[in-house]
Amino acid sequence: MANRGLFITFEGMDGSGKTTQMHRLAARLRGLGRTVLETVEPGGPPVAMQIRRILLDSANQDLSPTTEVLLYFASRAQNVDQWIAPALARGEIVLSDRFTDSSLVYQGCGRGLGEESVAALERIACRGIRPDLTLLVDIDPESSLGRARARNLAQPHDETRMDDQSLDFHRKVYEAYHALAAREPERVKIVDGRADIDGIEREIWDIVGRRL
Ligand code: TYD
Repeated sequence: MANRGLFITFEGMDGSGKTTQMHRLAARLRGLGRTVLETVEPGGPPVAMQIRRILLDSANQDLSPTTEVLLYFASRAQNVDQWIAPALARGEIVLSDRFTDSSLVYQGCGRGLGEESVAALERIACRGIRPDLTLLVDIDPESSLGRARARNLAQPHDETRMDDQSLDFHRKVYEAYHALAAREPERVKIVDGRADIDGIEREIWDIVGRRL
């Protein structure tokens, strides 16, 4: 299915600040009069939000890697069918806080399930929809874990199952993100997540402006 609209995804390690940046980009685009759908993975539509609860609940430590990847794609399939594909067909701009690249780096590499399993599920779940542009908000694994754990302490919540993973796991994810950016430099743009928030916003605006 061809995207009639524009599909932009945000990727990065936990605590990279990508969510804030996505909201800021949405506000700028709306300021230009564009219609923007914002979504998040795992999540988006209500059914997908229910799947999100299973995935991120720190009580579910025994979730197997296979169940985990299937649930991420179950959430994604619902998001694609109910929200993303219809919005793109209407010619809107869709912004997603994470998408298939997250499954590639966290499950394919972090969990060691392999890229082929992720690619097979993508063929089933995504109906040919791939991001036109991906902004990789880059911070190192040590800062990522530090920020995520500080956030969890400041605002205690149950959605910490992935943040509870080891530094080794997060290092694999980091390496995989960089390998992806090297492989697809036209689509995946690295943005320095250590810069100040306004500076990152401007850099993202420069990149997106070239695609509008
Ligand atoms: P969330 O609390 O939304 O964190 P963040 O703000 O960093 O996005 O949690 C999402 C977690 O799920 C995050 O640790 C990454 C992980 N994840 C995967 O492992 N695979 C996926 O396909 C997706 C979408 C997310």
